[in-house]
Amino acid sequence: MKVLVATEKPFATVAVNGIKEVLDAAGIEMALLEKYTAKADLLKAVEDADGLIVRSDIVDAEVLDAAKKLKIIVRAGAGYDNIDLNAATAKGVCVMNTPGQNSNAVAELVFGMTILMIRNHFNGTSGTELKGKKLGIHAYGQVGRNVARIAKGFGMELYAFDPYCPNEVMEKDGVKPVASVEELYRTCQFVSLHIPATAETKQSINHALMSLMPKGAVLINTARKEVIHEEDLARVLEERADFRYVADVAPANAAALTEKFGDRVFFTPKKMGAQTAEANINAGIAAARQSVGFLKEGIDRFRVNK
Ligand code: 3PG
Repeated sequence: MKVLVATEKPFATVAVNGIKEVLDAAGIEMALLEKYTAKADLLKAVEDADGLIVRSDIVDAEVLDAAKKLKIIVRAGAGYDNIDLNAATAKGVCVMNTPGQNSNAVAELVFGMTILMIRNHFNGTSGTELKGKKLGIHAYGQVGRNVARIAKGFGMELYAFDPYCPNEVMEKDGVKPVASVEELYRTCQFVSLHIPATAETKQSINHALMSLMPKGAVLINTARKEVIHEEDLARVLEERADFRYVADVAPANAAALTEKFGDRVFFTPKKMGAQTAEANINAGIAAARQSVGFLKEGIDRFRVNK
């Protein structure tokens, strides 16, 4: 049996070694395809794979067609919007993610980027602090919870909106649940996005919502670029000289926004939220263990295409 690890953005070597150890111990061969630039390379590599471990790599119907022996795909990470679930289900391929394994890394980057912004890109002028400021956490999943934990250390006042999370879970963490998404944006100078990209959320962060944010607004996106309405973002930045946007998932109009709004926007050159050795080890090894569990014993915990 063979598991292909296909990562256009590679894991740290220590994580790849860990994945190999887990697969070796189960008598499963590991194939590695890193930093590939052509889809044809993935189509070829996946041909004889029984399992596939990916990150944000696109696994569409064409990839699934090429993968004649494939039984399981594990997305080493949280969001699985890069995988065509319908095509996988139609082919009887199990799809899993590894929830929570890289969430601390993403949460830490929220504060890295936010501090860069409110300290004026360290340009020597006086910035502002996080202490005492209101932070709105938009979706209280694994990353949102880590953001809350870290924000408490900064002395921030915490709010969250998540219709899928019981209020008690937030309250237990010292986070005030708000009744509507509008209330979150109206209340909080800082808002951090942790919603997945779904039909419901795509382009949902629009002019109406962004315009509600108080003076000195900083919107932080470590989630997905698709959730932002990009034209509306440009409009809000144009209308409000106090509005700032930082993102680990650069919008298509990133270059134009940077040119026009300079230091009021910041984009990582490549999605870096989960790019730490720790997150790579956690998510990579979890993916390897889940692959082995499924291929050897049919264990399908964390399956997302039930
Ligand atoms: C995730 O969904 O787990 C994060 O967005 C990280 O994605 P990555 O593995 O492509 O960095």
